[in-house]
Amino acid sequence: MIYYGHQHITEKDIQAVEKVLRSNYLTQGPVIESFEKKVANYCGAKYAVAVTNATSALHIACKAAGLGEGDVLWTSPITFTASANCGRYCGADVDFVDIDDKTYNISVAELQHKLETALQKPKVVIPVHLAGQSCDMEAIKALADEYGFKIIEDASHATGADYKNTKVGSCRYSDMTVFSFHPVKIVTTGEGGIVLTNNKELYEKLKLYRSHGITRDGDLMTQEADGPWYYQQIELGFNYRMTDMQAALGCSQMDSLDEFVARRRYLVRRYNEKLKDLPLRTPYQSEDTNPSWHIYIIRVDFTKVVLSKKEIFARMKDRGIALNLHYIPVHTQPYYRNLGFKKGDFPVSETYYEEAITLPLYYDLTDEQQDQIIQALKDVLQG
Ligand SMILES: Cc1ncc(COP(=O)(O)O)c(C=O)c1O
Repeated sequence: MIYYGHQHITEKDIQAVEKVLRSNYLTQGPVIESFEKKVANYCGAKYAVAVTNATSALHIACKAAGLGEGDVLWTSPITFTASANCGRYCGADVDFVDIDDKTYNISVAELQHKLETALQKPKVVIPVHLAGQSCDMEAIKALADEYGFKIIEDASHATGADYKNTKVGSCRYSDMTVFSFHPVKIVTTGEGGIVLTNNKELYEKLKLYRSHGITRDGDLMTQEADGPWYYQQIELGFNYRMTDMQAALGCSQMDSLDEFVARRRYLVRRYNEKLKDLPLRTPYQSEDTNPSWHIYIIRVDFTKVVLSKKEIFARMKDRGIALNLHYIPVHTQPYYRNLGFKKGDFPVSETYYEEAITLPLYYDLTDEQQDQIIQALKDVLQG
């Protein structure tokens, strides 16, 4: 079976993890800081805080942004539910802005319209870089400056991607950026995530929220330390720490990031070329971006295909290919329906959901396997 995503682990990765296992620190050791520095340097950001996954990264980013009860967070419906759930964790309300029909990222025109008309403006907006293609961050930043909201980029798909000749993660157009290191992502630490920022104050808050709200920094304490054992809990934080084994894997994987992204870009060019005559839309790439291509999404033209999406999935599975779908519009999930959202609220996202399919894409996918997928898709759609 060919799956939609898969990690690439080398002997060097294994040795890096083994080295930590033989060392004194399995967690809270020196490798965490090396990993954070490596990711921050790669992206051109000042600070990084590594955590258990992108979900916890989004949670502490929202906390650091000051999101709480009575506030509103906006994101787009075509994302993994975590991009919205992080607002709910903070007790805030969540609302959505429909996607752009070309990029499938948050529509800047819709965002502007909603900002002009909404009674309550958002405290935080989370643009999601779907498939690893950056949102139009310059335009979103201009709106943030006008309306006073904070921007947290959900770049879970976009490690290694470029936007206007800067790395996604530089936080040039945002307050914070989050990456995911789940095994299907561009680089992996097993589970893992990180928050990047250029703001020292946010950085200090992120570190506190990662580790129970506890500090040993005398400047932050309410009184002088009772002794060398002393610490204070000054906030309600969490235990969202990444282990040193994970960070070691991350350091080693980061060395291959450019190579990983180059291979994904090559495979995407190949898909685009070989699928161009089929009744489907291949991914659009905006000229400001050079995506990392976490996933490859096609939009099937069902006016020209007799099979249903379910039948396409079944027939491709019979040919040994597991398709996927990113994503079910978040506002249509029962949890969000119970909060008042309904089908019809975000029509561009809902039409996207009717037509979208994710084809396999990962570093180890061979040209031959990709040809097998392309041939199977041709047979299924045209047969
Ligand atoms: C866009 C997006 N945001 C957030 C997440 C959550 O990432 P994690 O699994 O690292 O918590 C994912 C994971 O699939 C994602 O795709």
